[in-house]
Amino acid sequence: MLHAQFDRFFEGFRRDAHPMAIMVGTVGALAAFYHDSTDINDAKQRTIASHRLIAKMPTIAARAFKYSIGQPFVSPRNELDYASNFLRMCFAVPAEEYKVNPVLARAMDVFFILHADHEQNASTSTVRLAGSSGANPFACISSGIACLWGPAHGGANEAALNMLEEIGHVDNIPEFIRRVKDPNDDIRLMGFGHRVYKNYDPRAKAMQKLCHAVLKEVGAEDNPILKVAMELEKIALNDEYFVSRKLYPNIDFYSGITLRAMGFPTSMFTVLFAVARTVGWIAQWTEMMEDESQKIGRPRQVYTGAPKRDYVERAKRG
Ligand SMILES: CC(C)(COP(=O)(O)OP(=O)(O)OC[C@H]1O[C@@H](n2cnc3c(N)ncnc32)[C@H](O)[C@@H]1OP(=O)(O)O)[C@@H](O)C(=O)NCCC(=O)NCCS
Repeated sequence: MLHAQFDRFFEGFRRDAHPMAIMVGTVGALAAFYHDSTDINDAKQRTIASHRLIAKMPTIAARAFKYSIGQPFVSPRNELDYASNFLRMCFAVPAEEYKVNPVLARAMDVFFILHADHEQNASTSTVRLAGSSGANPFACISSGIACLWGPAHGGANEAALNMLEEIGHVDNIPEFIRRVKDPNDDIRLMGFGHRVYKNYDPRAKAMQKLCHAVLKEVGAEDNPILKVAMELEKIALNDEYFVSRKLYPNIDFYSGITLRAMGFPTSMFTVLFAVARTVGWIAQWTEMMEDESQKIGRPRQVYTGAPKRDYVERAKRG
């Protein structure tokens, strides 16, 4: 990367900008730094752009984090694997040597793998729709990041963690559960249930294992918020209300707790999701670009508005 130029570009952002705002702006701007790899009709250039996006995403995400907390940027190290390198760029500081913790590096790696792709979710469809017009790949991935930013998509793990903070203490759980079960109260247990998975979400199973390993490794089992999480998990897996409705903790429930225990603030959760999902977005974009029958996307609109309406001509209005 053209480091100096890119660092100057960062300097234009406000320090209190949300890291996702920096991601949307910076990834889109890659088109201006790498205009030598934006000919979408050239398979070699498509591959170069894909490699650049996957390779640069952790660096940009870590810089968005460092910038938001006012710490100096940490450059990537070629001898480290993808996840370890990312952790180092996020958590190393100039004053001391950073040692990669293998449990946390494995957790980061598995998090990235579990979030890499998930069919035609909103952000993936956005990337495909943007790409269908022949837009350059950096702009397409930036549009996917913008879509992922919304609380109904990438923000679910943040919502789950906010709920745990709101409950605050295990003593408050019974009252919270009573409200969740009350048909007259529309409160829901965030991080539970899934529109598609009515049996256990297989990703949640893997994330659960990881979550417990991370909590043990960082000695966070005594953290009150994490205690609330573990107690809620126990209740939900045994309580008739949740069992009969097949409401299991979903991947977002465990990922929020895991990322928090690893040291990430909630504002970084969706950024980490974006780093992981970039691989899936690019795979889907590449598949589309290689399909000769591919045409510009054009969702159909069915007009259901008013039929012909009378109006008073402008000159005759009072
Ligand atoms: C994900 C979600 C939207 C799926 O909803 P759905 O498949 O449409 O399920 P429904 O809304 O039809 O709910 C079925 C029943 O389970 C209950 N239910 C569903 N999710 C619930 C939750 N998280 N907490 C408490 N009750 C829940 C509903 O109240 C309903 O009960 P009823 O049959 O007595 O009326 C829903 O489970 C939810 O809102 N979860 C919390 C948000 C979340 O974690 N989102 C991230 C998903 S990856």
